[in-house]
Amino acid sequence: MKTPELAIIGGTGLTSLSGLEILREENVGTPFGAPSCPLVFGRLREREVVFLARHGKNHTIPPHRINYRANIQALHQAGARRIVAVAAVGGITAEMSPARLVIPDQIIDYTYGREHTFFADGLTEVTHIDFTEPYDTGLRQRLIEACRGQGLDAVEHGTYGATQGPRLESGAEISRMERDGCDIVGMTGMPEAALARELGLAYATCAVVANWAAGKGDQAVIEMAEIERTVRQGMDKVRTLLENLEV
Ligand code: HPA
Repeated sequence: MKTPELAIIGGTGLTSLSGLEILREENVGTPFGAPSCPLVFGRLREREVVFLARHGKNHTIPPHRINYRANIQALHQAGARRIVAVAAVGGITAEMSPARLVIPDQIIDYTYGREHTFFADGLTEVTHIDFTEPYDTGLRQRLIEACRGQGLDAVEHGTYGATQGPRLESGAEISRMERDGCDIVGMTGMPEAALARELGLAYATCAVVANWAAGKGDQAVIEMAEIERTVRQGMDKVRTLLENLEV
């Protein structure tokens, strides 16, 4: 089997890919520790892909405890060149309604205390990556085309605000994020995107809106059961998207 160039990082609601014909699993070690789980090498509609469940096989690793460096490094070592990151998010602005897919084009990072760079120790020179366009424009375009082709009605833009979690945000935090220009909110988008850029991997996100963010829906509290139900609906669209992605 040749090395797959396409990697898929699955988030909440996507710990495995139905339709993925599993060829082998591999425990990969990295200089930064172990990734969230073994890499799954498989075939999705004739195409070789490598899959990684961001929160671990049984969804036990919370967003702030994910070893993002090990995950990205492991995919890099496995030969991946492109990463499609799937993530559940809260919707802030009007278009970002529950169960919609969003292909964001910008990021604001509110996380803290995470190992967020490969360029820290043993450097021969200080390195600053360009992050003007945080997502790979070509890969984003492929995702958008696949959504259009399948009639998935994705929102084709949006600013992803990355929060620390694991708690959800306060109403005031979401209001501030909206004033900052955030359209959606999630807990895992950073440092994942920046680490991929540091290793020269093309990275783009397909977000699934799981709920209205705090204070945005007509419900006083955000129910986990509702999030899970909506994510399940949204992930069916993600599977369709991934099966029809041409990269
Ligand atoms: N906030 C942050 N992360 C999320 C949310 C949210 O409302 N929903 C799903 N992931």
